[in-house]
Amino acid sequence: MKLLIDSANIEHIKQINHDYPVDGVTTNPTLIAKENRDFYQLIKEIRTVIGESKLLFVQTVSEATDAIVQEALEIWKALDKNVVIKIPVTVEGIKAIKELKKQGIKTLATTVYTPMNAFVAAKAGADYVAPYVNRIENLNGKGTEVVQEIKQIFTNASFTCEIISASFKNVQQIKEVCLSGSDVITVPPTLINQFLQVSSIKEDVERFKLDWQKSIQGKEG
Ligand code: E4P
Repeated sequence: MKLLIDSANIEHIKQINHDYPVDGVTTNPTLIAKENRDFYQLIKEIRTVIGESKLLFVQTVSEATDAIVQEALEIWKALDKNVVIKIPVTVEGIKAIKELKKQGIKTLATTVYTPMNAFVAAKAGADYVAPYVNRIENLNGKGTEVVQEIKQIFTNASFTCEIISASFKNVQQIKEVCLSGSDVITVPPTLINQFLQVSSIKEDVERFKLDWQKSIQGKEG
């Protein structure tokens, strides 16, 4: 299972990439806009920070198929082969995914709310789909169930498309999708930092240190 950083903030990406075993970064137009920087400069800097071997996901903002394809090609040319183009699952987006598949460009179908959104995207040739767990739950849906059902459909259909569960507001939601067959999780830096925030760990480490220092080995060392 891959772990991605869901952020466009250089300092946050640097810290998480340095401290944790991550496989790449996902961005979206909202995250990019928050940074208030030139788009290409920012995504190239993210690429430099994480290195060329990790995955970098960049989203298009155009609405018509031709414009989405054009934008995707520009992003792809500006970066490298480990960039994946995120495209919302509109009808125009699905047509763009089909076209980009023919051109050998990797895509992630984003804004996935239902198993059938994911089915259509995978049929069109998307390499990844991103169910929006927290946003589904905000609509009184069950994010985890959507992930489970997508997994079942992909298994039944022998699709190789990977599920990147996205849109989290707490660690409980993340744990649930990990148990539900998600292939990848993309998580904001604040929540990745919470994975190891268990006060008992610190207390245990302190206790081990004190016990060691009291022992013969501790005195000799
Ligand atoms: C990632 O690919 C998505 O764009 C992101 O997780 C959405 O998260 P949000 O619902 O917290 O904005």
